[in-house]
Amino acid sequence: MTTILVTGGAGFIGYHLAKYLLERDVKVVVYDNFSDYYTPQLKWKNAQEVEKLGATIVEGDILDKKTLARTLEKENCDRVIHLAAQPGVRYSTINPDKSLRINVEGTSNVLNVSRECNISRVVISSSSSVFGPTIFMPMNEGHPRNPISFYGVSKLATENLVAVCRHLYPEFETTIIRPYTVVGSRQRPDMAINIFVSKAMTDEPITVFGDGKQTRDWTNVENMAQAFHLAATKSAAKNENFNIGAGTRISVNRVLSMVSEVTNRELHLEYAEMNRADVRDTFADISKAKRLLGYDPKKTIFDAIEDFTEYWITQHYSNQLLTNESSSQAASSIPVK
Ligand SMILES: NC(=O)c1ccc[n+]([C@@H]2O[C@H](COP(=O)([O-])OP(=O)(O)OC[C@H]3O[C@@H](n4cnc5c(N)ncnc54)[C@H](O)[C@@H]3O)[C@@H](O)[C@H]2O)c1
Repeated sequence: MTTILVTGGAGFIGYHLAKYLLERDVKVVVYDNFSDYYTPQLKWKNAQEVEKLGATIVEGDILDKKTLARTLEKENCDRVIHLAAQPGVRYSTINPDKSLRINVEGTSNVLNVSRECNISRVVISSSSSVFGPTIFMPMNEGHPRNPISFYGVSKLATENLVAVCRHLYPEFETTIIRPYTVVGSRQRPDMAINIFVSKAMTDEPITVFGDGKQTRDWTNVENMAQAFHLAATKSAAKNENFNIGAGTRISVNRVLSMVSEVTNRELHLEYAEMNRADVRDTFADISKAKRLLGYDPKKTIFDAIEDFTEYWITQHYSNQLLTNESSSQAASSIPVK
């Protein structure tokens, strides 16, 4: 049985990936420092749920090379999928040092410690943010990389670290995945669908940055889990880079109307200036991933909004029960699907 260590395995994508791997008879070790970028309790909850499905949970930091090496050896890991990061394009404009340290030094540690521990392949999570402004669409793997945020720069540096490893150590396999805006249940609280659904459900105003006509290639997290699994296990993924999206582009305004439909709420929208670190459009060319990996994204953005809304309601209810609020008041806010 293959054993895969997933750094950042207690986070949003990590939770779904760990579950996806466990369902396919892969042994999973979650390695996560439960950072306080957002509520660590949410991450502990994710970890406890995958632990029940058979995952081993290790609280560890990618900046701590000794603990990482000890874990890889003790758990007899074969492969590593590296998701741990300081995410957030806008956050990186406020705290660039943190994004650069965790994403660059952390990824260098993951690559070098993995190689020293004879890991056969490391899959690195980069980001579509490495591309910066769109020059042509859909964007294939050869699209110029000119990031316009510190986060994007930190991910470009991780790609360059991988390129150096490929040059120096040809026998050490690496694969780069560039996720496009990932959506689904347990999404990070700083991301659009989480904010849109939470505010819709509590009848609060929603701030839309820009005119809402900007587009994203919204990728259901279950498709993303499939891509990471294929990248870690298919021989054709060796030393390749893949853009992973849905292969569609949908405007923010269209997504807001989906949120209104799923939550059964009228939205109160307020438009504000677009952040200079955000790009206008993203749209992945996924033909290489389809051809080499057999990547087959089936789940949609609409499915993801439904999944997130269901998750939000469950969370909201358990919190309300804990604070002894009237359940009849809560019941009146359940959307009719
Ligand atoms: N969510 C997206 O739309 C998206 C898009 C492109 C790329 N990505 C990349 O995918 C990966 C996962 O993103 P996510 O959205 O699941 O974020 P997330 O914040 O939910 O998950 C990241 C996890 O890494 C952990 N972590 C942070 N610093 C760590 C450290 N020093 N040592 C060990 N663990 C640490 C966190 O505790 C967290 O559980 C990241 O590399 C991110 O940059 C995400």
